Amino acid sequence: MNEPEAIATIAPFDVQKVRNDFPILNQKVHEQPLVYLDNAASSQKPKAVIEALEKYYTAQHSNVHRGVHYLSSRATESFENVRGKAQRLINAKHAHEIIFTRGTTEAVNLVASSFGKKFISEGDEVLISEMEHHSNIVPWQIVCEDKGAKLKVIPVNDAGELIFEAFEKLLSEKTKIVAVNHVSNTLGTINPVKKIIEKAHEFNVPVLLDAAQAVPHMKTDVQDLNADFYCFSSHKMYGPTGIGILYGKEKWLEEMPPYQGGGEMIETVTFEKTTYNDLPYKFEAGTPNIADVIAFGAAIDYLDSIGYEDISAYEKELLEYATEQLLNINGLRIIGTAENKASVISFLMDEIHPYDIGTILDQLGIAVRTGHHCTEPLMNRFGISGTVRASFAFYNTKEEVDVLVKGLLKAKEMLS
Ligand code: ALA
Repeated sequence: MNEPEAIATIAPFDVQKVRNDFPILNQKVHEQPLVYLDNAASSQKPKAVIEALEKYYTAQHSNVHRGVHYLSSRATESFENVRGKAQRLINAKHAHEIIFTRGTTEAVNLVASSFGKKFISEGDEVLISEMEHHSNIVPWQIVCEDKGAKLKVIPVNDAGELIFEAFEKLLSEKTKIVAVNHVSNTLGTINPVKKIIEKAHEFNVPVLLDAAQAVPHMKTDVQDLNADFYCFSSHKMYGPTGIGILYGKEKWLEEMPPYQGGGEMIETVTFEKTTYNDLPYKFEAGTPNIADVIAFGAAIDYLDSIGYEDISAYEKELLEYATEQLLNINGLRIIGTAENKASVISFLMDEIHPYDIGTILDQLGIAVRTGHHCTEPLMNRFGISGTVRASFAFYNTKEEVDVLVKGLLKAKEMLS
């Protein structure tokens, strides 16, 4: 007799259980239960992260890479362990390709400044897209201005998708680097980054991905993508603020000059000449943000314990439900209707100013972001000054979507 077929026993994703891990969610705002839908700006922290911070400062703090004493060696070990965790999270080939920064913004600035110094000259071109966050525009403008190079912009279509044919046309032997986001913070568009990288590499052009909005939602493999630089922030992925990662391929990081000078990043110093430390320390001048790196490690562990498969599937369900419910509201228009989206919905309702909607929602305990979301050129592209943005995490629920819809109907009634 055949053995009965094994039945897969995967535990269903339990959102209520997950919510219990986030103490901040269990509170009232303006006497209403908090509905936190501003996760693209910053996500909330699970107990494990908060406890890691407390534990570190209570019992483990010391400077890293410096002391022979017990606390310093322990702190160094915990700190370097997180480099390994981040390496595994995005499947980088080497731990020394992981550079700790203050966040995505600093990671992009590091590359723009250091790569720019070495590889960008007068007449060269830097290619970005129309849907970039200011932090993936301004650092490149600074380097272009400095070097007499040109910033070229890949346009987006009405759905908020990159126009790939336009990108192909813009690529040339003058292009020195392509810098685009993996997921748009304003539209939620998931860009076809693997295809973009493949195309750019045909011209031997490296690609930097601003992945601040990608890593919280989906499994990443930088080797499979063949990304040259990959930047993301801890605070959008349930970890502390003030910490981020720059992943860079070894071959680029080896060639790039240091970004900042100071302790840690040197090999030897004399008044005549300084030689630099090996990777990753060449790019990590000064005492790092040790406590937050260690707590970031706890956030990575937490994400691991839930699993990206469940996170992506649950958030997709939430996105579909929220999109459907919001579109039932008369006069509501979604900005960003790409086929492939993360759980971010930007919208406008009638002619009501986003700020007014946000203010009424806040009175109902609902946190959304309003404004241009640090993407002014994208707002210009759509001929608007801003949107209301609801961005969902895996701890949000369909009931919260219903509360949002009710709040919007109320705002409509009051403001129309
Ligand atoms: N970049 C963050 C956002 O989109 C702050 O809200």
